[in-house]
Amino acid sequence: MSEIHTEERVQSDSPRPSGFYGITVPSSDLQQSKRFLVDVLCGKLLEENARRVRVDFTNFIITAEPQEGGVIKPHLEQPHIAFDVTPEAYAGLRERLHAHGVPTTKPWGRMGKPYALTYFRDPSGNQYEFFSPEGTTLEKVYGGRRGGDYVIDFPALAYDGLKDPANGGKDLPFTPPTGYNHNTSAVRELAEAKHFVVHVLGGDVFHNEPAHVTAWVGGFAYGVAPQAEGWTLPECVSPRFTFTVKPDEMDPMRRHLDSFGIPTSDVVTEDGTDARLYFRDPSGNMLELLCLNGYQGKTRSDFTLDPRELLYDQ
Ligand SMILES: [Fe+2]
Repeated sequence: MSEIHTEERVQSDSPRPSGFYGITVPSSDLQQSKRFLVDVLCGKLLEENARRVRVDFTNFIITAEPQEGGVIKPHLEQPHIAFDVTPEAYAGLRERLHAHGVPTTKPWGRMGKPYALTYFRDPSGNQYEFFSPEGTTLEKVYGGRRGGDYVIDFPALAYDGLKDPANGGKDLPFTPPTGYNHNTSAVRELAEAKHFVVHVLGGDVFHNEPAHVTAWVGGFAYGVAPQAEGWTLPECVSPRFTFTVKPDEMDPMRRHLDSFGIPTSDVVTEDGTDARLYFRDPSGNMLELLCLNGYQGKTRSDFTLDPRELLYDQ
């Protein structure tokens, strides 16, 4: 994170997401995903069936859906999603991960900053982070990009399934994350991604760095960083970010996306009450707008998303 705070936002009444629902990640094994999100990370199980596992983390939801491939490659840093944690939870959750055989980075930070980070992955390979704004009581090392000497060995974060903790995990501290802190998605070009975040998503930029831009979108920190690869694959629907919109914002958002030449799906419904719209960012990252209820327009229920139809190049 940076001291450079360049406020940039669209000074208009363009429609924009009103909130953040959560992220959907690919899963190679739903049982492992559930164990990881619930038993290891202390999330609250909301839904479990053959199509998905949905787990609540106070102010956002992580959904794991079966998908062949599409997870981050072992050597990459993006995409990742960061949980906000207290110093107590930072230590407690690291203990929980290690007891289940999940490798982590060392407790680390950046020179001159109080916060502490930890990277780790789920059993399918999706990357996560603990971000403790108040730091950690554990011994901390400093990252190489800011004058320290700690270089993260990302491939070493991969592992082969969760282990059973001693005593069924009963001795482990129950220290759930506070909620969402930020994400960083991989993008092919930073200026293009920033333009998309500001003008299409209506984001308010609050970190503007040469290799990283983060904006408030729907009140949540949405970050992008350039990388050679790592966005949602053409044939995949996840990883996928879901923002919420108010009932009367869905159609204006769709017209807004149209005005940029961005292909959108039909407005679809799963349960007859919700309304959903899918589209991609210029790199290909899959995004979703969700209106939980009250949408008055037409919706389709007989719909299978063809993720390739949402690709574009501009
Ligand atoms: Fe991060």
